[in-house]
Amino acid sequence: MAAEGTDLPKPRHVAIIMDGNGRWALGQGRPRSHGHQAGGEALKRVIEACLKRRIPYLTVYAFSSENWRRPAMEVRRLMELFLSALNREVRRLHEAGVKLRFSGDLSAFNAALRNGMLRAEHRTRNNTRLTLNVAVNYGGRAEIVAATRRIAAEVAAGRLQPDDIDEQTVARNLILGSLPEPDLFIRTGGEQRLSNFLLWQLAYTELYFCDVLWPDFGESHLDEALAAFAGRERRFGGVTARRA
Ligand code: FPP
Repeated sequence: MAAEGTDLPKPRHVAIIMDGNGRWALGQGRPRSHGHQAGGEALKRVIEACLKRRIPYLTVYAFSSENWRRPAMEVRRLMELFLSALNREVRRLHEAGVKLRFSGDLSAFNAALRNGMLRAEHRTRNNTRLTLNVAVNYGGRAEIVAATRRIAAEVAAGRLQPDDIDEQTVARNLILGSLPEPDLFIRTGGEQRLSNFLLWQLAYTELYFCDVLWPDFGESHLDEALAAFAGRERRFGGVTARRA
């Protein structure tokens, strides 16, 4: 059953690797881009479900900095899908109280897509029901490198002492710096790895892997992940009262 309306521990921030679009499409004898389109529909269902369950932060991995290595046609179709999703969905998301954020190196996208993302962020900036953070052209290591550069520049300018650098300094300088760390990470599609996603932020996150291919993922699968999360004991490196 839904975690909605129950007193079970609920994640404040869910992060998802939406994997399995390609295999889903190939299983139907269709091109991979058909799977990405169906993946977009799955994402809409999960956004609805998060709104219903009052989960305030959702981060999804829509395009990694390594995804440029895919066949040119697949990359082109993905860009078209992002642009049409922006044109079609932003008004509805805005009306539902969703604040959109795009995290990653946007400079690699064409002007229409980049401006569409920036406009969507601006339009929805005051919404508070759900922050939907879409990681695009994002890589966890690149994010840490960029933060390191910013910190080094502060040191070089004499505004920061090396001894004053702590975890907060690094966290603040990450692209996702202002978001709470994810409580629950979900990866669909059967693979059990992080694939360069949120390397810093997942340090104490509960990891959940399922075999469902992303286009098939829906409300009931999210509830299974939420139930698994509710059954986990989070110790953050400490001990529980029972073991103390
Ligand atoms: C991974 O599946 C999925 C992607 C690289 C793209 C994710 C994009 C969407 C779900 C589209 C919707 C997003 C927005 C923001 C509109 P894969 O292709 O690696 O699948 P495979 O492992 O079966 O090959």
